[in-house]
Amino acid sequence: MSSANPIPMVDLREQYLSLKSDIDTAVADVLSNTQFIMGPNVRTLETEIADYLGVSDAVSCGNGTDALHLALLGLGVGPGDEVITTPFTFIATAEAIAYVGATPVFVDVDPTTYNLDTDLVEAAINENTRAIIPVHLFGLPCNMHALQSIAGKHKLFLVEDCAQSFGSAVDGVKTGAIGDVGCHSFFPSKNLGCYGDGGMLTTNNAELAQTMRVLRTHGSTKQYHHTMIGYNSRLDELQAAILRQKLPHIDRFNQGRLRVATAYCDQLKDLNIQLPLLSAPDSHGQATPVFHQFTLLCDKRDELKQALKDENIASAVYYPIPLHQQKAIIEKMQQQPTLPQTEKLAERCLSLPIYPEMPDESIERVCTIVNQVLQ
Ligand SMILES: Cc1ncc(COP(=O)(O)O)c(C=O)c1O
Repeated sequence: MSSANPIPMVDLREQYLSLKSDIDTAVADVLSNTQFIMGPNVRTLETEIADYLGVSDAVSCGNGTDALHLALLGLGVGPGDEVITTPFTFIATAEAIAYVGATPVFVDVDPTTYNLDTDLVEAAINENTRAIIPVHLFGLPCNMHALQSIAGKHKLFLVEDCAQSFGSAVDGVKTGAIGDVGCHSFFPSKNLGCYGDGGMLTTNNAELAQTMRVLRTHGSTKQYHHTMIGYNSRLDELQAAILRQKLPHIDRFNQGRLRVATAYCDQLKDLNIQLPLLSAPDSHGQATPVFHQFTLLCDKRDELKQALKDENIASAVYYPIPLHQQKAIIEKMQQQPTLPQTEKLAERCLSLPIYPEMPDESIERVCTIVNQVLQ
């Protein structure tokens, strides 16, 4: 094992230190105000995020998983319904479908974008299909033009899983503002991350926003008056205060991620491996990824991972087992499909360290090892 300085997947400390005095002051203000639940920062953050994303309504909630759950509940998706999504994502996307008693239907991914292959979606639609959940995986927006046209034609809801894509856009429209509702996660390592759990729903449908608002606070519009069975899924005031300090810097943070990704692509360009796209295919519209992860595909994935580990460099496999092969999800499907592109990705994918402040020397150290192992 090398004694070189460790290179982590993500270094949250750097970003905190760069905003320390603002964040510390915002936290201290909440502590002295003692309005810890549904305070002024939560309300203001909702307005600020709605403005940033260009939607009429933003409804905060406890985390990204709850956001997906509340979105499906708000849209009335339930038992007997089918929801089309990608098998190459974090389990939360499918958990939300299971929570409402609907059935997940997995469609294979495009091997170059790692996102839903929109050419395969229509074949999966039947009379029970109610919604599609595209996941803008690793920060690359899905082909939303194609999905909007399919959803429009078949009268399906489009629920965007934006957990990994905060700040990305298609033709100038931010992800989370394109479909019927956008579901965001503020998990600490996300592009816009807080210091605990947090989530947000975004929509241009005021009626849907109101339903989701009621659902996230015990089904009540007025304290102790409950019109439906709801949930306790509130974003807490401390997290909202922290997010408000970070939101003004999100474009700069995403630029920092793009800098790292561009340097990786440049320094690894001579290898016979698949690198992630620096921009979406032309047919997807003008879309820029926000590089939540930098994920390459190579045959010697496990060997590369070990070589990086020997040099004190972190790497991660997102995701080793696709959802259609996960025990918990198999039980929820009507039949288990074979999804060759996804299965190949799961065997070959490796994510390298990436975060906005990642130093050039660290990028070079990572690339030296990758080049050594794969040349
Ligand atoms: C694609 C995707 N969807 C949903 C979630 C769930 O978000 P949270 O952890 O905030 O519940 C995540 C989190 O990792 C995710 O990556």
